[in-house]
Amino acid sequence: MSSINGLGREGPAPVVEDEITSFFGSAPPLKDSEKIFEKLNRFIELNSSPQAGGDGGERRIVCVTSGGTTVPLEQRCVRYIDNFSSGNRGAASTEYFVKAGYAVIFLYRRGTCQPYCRSLPDDPFLECFEFPDGSDIQVRSSHSEAVKRAVRDQQAAVAESRLLKLPFTNIFEYLQTLQLIGTALKDLGPDAMFYLAAAVSDFYVPWNSMTEHKIQSGAGPLDIRLAQVPKMLWVLRTKWAPSAFCISFKLETDSKILLEKAGMALRKYKVHAVVANELLTRKEEVVVVSTDGNVLVRRDTDKPGSDVEDPLIRLIMDRHSAYIKESHT
Ligand code: PMT
Repeated sequence: MSSINGLGREGPAPVVEDEITSFFGSAPPLKDSEKIFEKLNRFIELNSSPQAGGDGGERRIVCVTSGGTTVPLEQRCVRYIDNFSSGNRGAASTEYFVKAGYAVIFLYRRGTCQPYCRSLPDDPFLECFEFPDGSDIQVRSSHSEAVKRAVRDQQAAVAESRLLKLPFTNIFEYLQTLQLIGTALKDLGPDAMFYLAAAVSDFYVPWNSMTEHKIQSGAGPLDIRLAQVPKMLWVLRTKWAPSAFCISFKLETDSKILLEKAGMALRKYKVHAVVANELLTRKEEVVVVSTDGNVLVRRDTDKPGSDVEDPLIRLIMDRHSAYIKESHT
């Protein structure tokens, strides 16, 4: 097998390729894939026109993945394995990317945190609105600024074709949609970016070995064999969109192994940077690991309500600009 972008015979390629073929081959068909495909191509077309960037250039497009994938245990799913991810990282990063002029494809887990809604209460419909003295519905004054901002900024981003939201729930939908996005962004070359903040399941039950109906509790202790989900980073980097700028994430709970694992992922998948974060401090600081060295990025604690994603996205954008420049020389 030939070497593409440095991932060659010595890399994980042959085994991973078989695993990936078998994963997609046995997955249930993605619902509405044609509609998703059309929406994607329309969004990319709108943002690839010479007018899109405003200053005469094309607009850069980033795919931000967000939230956790579920692993169904039954085909007619009643039970599933889930993970902790709230989607805050992806939602906050999306806001900063849009603000900086990027068009964002937000691939998110249904029900997780959404861009521009981070300061709203958990149940905004019930908590932000009221009917004073039986008159028309109105926003409670205590929430009016947050609601105005959420509605105005989200609607502006969608109206200006800067935000396309695509939902997923389970690992099959996530990876199938990511594949559609990856191949659709291929022609953008280095102007496209992947920012893979979703917490992707490492183990799953293959569709064809999953029971169709609800698992019966009377059958006694449950014994399920989970297969390894192939790392799609490899195929994204080598096949789907090999020239795109690619940022992956590494989450650990043990700080002693975090940077070592992030460095290993950087070398193995030849991504452009790995954002390393620890579960308990992930909203305060991250370390951007790349071949240029490690950079600690911290939230500005002197600014109330500041996010670590603010300086993080500025750093990632600078790196992306340098990559685009380098690719054109
Ligand atoms: O959502 P929040 O609550 O705000 O939390 C944010 C976060 C902690 C989830 C986020 O910052 C983060 O670290 N996301 C990645 C978590 C993770 O799944 O790490 P991992 O070590 O399992 O995977 C590393 C990378 O490989 C990820 O970029 C993932 O997209 C990719 N991957 C994972 C599994 C798989 N089968 N294929 C992949 O390509």
